Amino acid sequence: MMESIVAHGVAGQGRGSRMWRAAALPLVIGLLLGGCASEETVPLSEAARRGRGIYMNVCVACHNADPTQDGALGPNLAGTTRELLEWRVVRGAYPPGYTPKRTTGGMPAFSHLAGQLDDLLAFITESTQSAAASQ
Ligand code: HEC
Repeated sequence: MMESIVAHGVAGQGRGSRMWRAAALPLVIGLLLGGCASEETVPLSEAARRGRGIYMNVCVACHNADPTQDGALGPNLAGTTRELLEWRVVRGAYPPGYTPKRTTGGMPAFSHLAGQLDDLLAFITESTQSAAASQ
């Protein structure tokens, strides 16, 4: 008898905290989306949102948070193609015949991002379109 009360008590607590989390999650998501929405004139696709996550973690250390603007070390990324990302980000080089926007050479390769290039490109491309649309 005692055991079942204890078990119920614990199970009840577990449900309670899950319910709290379930209630808090939409709120947190709402805050995140609300915070970002003001910066965007055109909503980003799902791929671009994933790309933005990577960009804001890795690339923004040197590039501008707005990829259409020059950053402290890295140049603006307007017009970036899949081929350029492949070469610059994964291999740490430039496509044959490509003239780099800057030649400071401060960017290492991030070969572990090889599987995320489409997401990064979606973010860069859609940010560029969004900047053009708001002008
Ligand atoms: C440590 C600083 C640093 C980080 C982090 C960084 N970059 Fe760069 N990036 C640069 C610099 C400096 C250049 C220009 C000179 C060079 O190639 O090193 C550049 C150049 C580029 C270019 C070539 C632009 C052109 O047209 O000439 C692309 C594309 C690029 N970066 C994309 C990215 C992406 C995407 C990320 C994140 C995954 C990233 N970079 C992270 C510093 C950085």
